[in-house]
Amino acid sequence: MSPEDQTPEVRVPQDVGETLAHIGTVLRHSDLARRHGRVSDLIGLVVEATGLQAEVGEICMVNGDRGHPPVPSEVVGFRGQRTLLMPLGEMHGIGPATTARATGSPFRIRVGDDLLGRVIDGLGRPIDGMPRATGGRPRSANASPPDPLERPRIDTRVDLGVRALDSLVPCGRGQRLGIFAGSGVGKSSLLGMIARSTTADVNVIALVGERGREVKEFIERDLGDALAHSVVVVATSDQPALVRIKAAFTATAIAEHFRDQGKDVMLMMDSVTRFAMAQREVGLAIGEPPATRGYTPSVFAQLPRLLERSGTAKVGSITGLYTVLVDGDDMNEPIADAVRSILDGHIVLTRELAHASHYPAIDVLQSVSRLVGEVVSPQVRAAGQAVRHLMAAYKEKEDLIAIGAYQGGTDPTVDAAIALRPQIDRFLRQHVSDATTAAQADALLLDIAARIGEFAGVGGDHFQPDPAAAAQQAEPDLADNGEPAIPGPLNL
Ligand SMILES: Nc1ncnc2c1ncn2[C@@H]1O[C@H](COP(=O)(O)OP(=O)(O)OP(=O)(O)O)[C@@H](O)[C@H]1O
Ligand SMILES: [Mg+2]
Repeated sequence: MSPEDQTPEVRVPQDVGETLAHIGTVLRHSDLARRHGRVSDLIGLVVEATGLQAEVGEICMVNGDRGHPPVPSEVVGFRGQRTLLMPLGEMHGIGPATTARATGSPFRIRVGDDLLGRVIDGLGRPIDGMPRATGGRPRSANASPPDPLERPRIDTRVDLGVRALDSLVPCGRGQRLGIFAGSGVGKSSLLGMIARSTTADVNVIALVGERGREVKEFIERDLGDALAHSVVVVATSDQPALVRIKAAFTATAIAEHFRDQGKDVMLMMDSVTRFAMAQREVGLAIGEPPATRGYTPSVFAQLPRLLERSGTAKVGSITGLYTVLVDGDDMNEPIADAVRSILDGHIVLTRELAHASHYPAIDVLQSVSRLVGEVVSPQVRAAGQAVRHLMAAYKEKEDLIAIGAYQGGTDPTVDAAIALRPQIDRFLRQHVSDATTAAQADALLLDIAARIGEFAGVGGDHFQPDPAAAAQQAEPDLADNGEPAIPGPLNL
């Protein structure tokens, strides 16, 4: 982090009145005396300084001894008369009674269009071997979400390029979806597929708490050419907890920069669980009480502050895809629970499907987009419900079918599900290199739905390929909880 990033934004005033007002503002926020303190203690991750007049969230420079450069640190709390600081880097050179200086500014990063195609760390420094991007302006990594009443409603779908998602769990421009998955079930591959195929203008990808080895793999294997219209922000698991937290906020601030230009941005964060773990580390270090599963109350306060910043705004939009680690496939662990309640839908990836080499391992029946009715045509929605219904029927009888105990003709829906299973499977499976558009996915889904209609007694009389008729049938089919009501309008 360079000191220039920590200087307040300079705006050129237009006339005399504005000039005077501007001078007044600068004077009010200026330090007329330098604010210094001294390091008194260093316990674990926290440096305690005495005599340092600084606000919470302010960046202070802790001077290093014997030629070590100053360590930028953030004020994270106070205890008695002492200021608690957390370094945003290695703690080299900090010793008893070394001096600390308040900068008067919160954490800022320089954000400009020249970040496109770049890989930076959580503090905005390049890690791709190229020179630092010098365009743009310093921007605070913390910002308020757009005013709720100024947020337009979401009514357009954004292509994700994944058939199972575009047609069955569609995502609107400015929608926020959680991707719930255990380790190794294909999160990175899925995010890469989406980054390469999406119709969003810009991707901002935050890799929070990843293992170092995986970063290069993700950029070269999963992201590939899409890097040209992406910005990747990386804070690996060995980075200080505060840097991992900053990476999430930095990526969001970069997404906001492009959104403010009227662009549709795809913000992907892998993973929000590791962000929460970093916040827990900070909370415990400054003495917060552990609450649910060791997570401190500040974790649950920070999550909405981070996640609410994506979405629609007066101009542009940020579509948010946030991965959540559900180890042991425990969908009810506290972070999964908290994130699910904030977002507008969830995609579930299961180990069971991954083990069966069914990729992407999306469990369609467990995945829900709360805005499906707003972003796809009633016809596609009805077709999606018909296919879901068939899949649910198959799943219920799966064990019987596997051992050959299911008698054909017992249930027409199950018969249709067995007959159409290969076609549904072909539709849902998609290799990472197989790019499709949402329109192609819709056409294939409608094709399957038309075949369902051919089965006597399985909604054949009810399926209406005519859009007007389908619209009429598709209206009242969302349950109170936003889940698609099954049986659907096709009354299978
Ligand atoms: N669409 C796909 N087509 C074929 N194989 C896939 C697909 N998606 C994932 N895989 C396989 O799954 C493996 C693991 O995927 P990936 O690295 O994306 O998982 P992950 O959930 O990000 O793992 P981790 O938790 O370790 O970060 C890949 O090496 C690849 O072989
Ligand atoms: Mg991964």
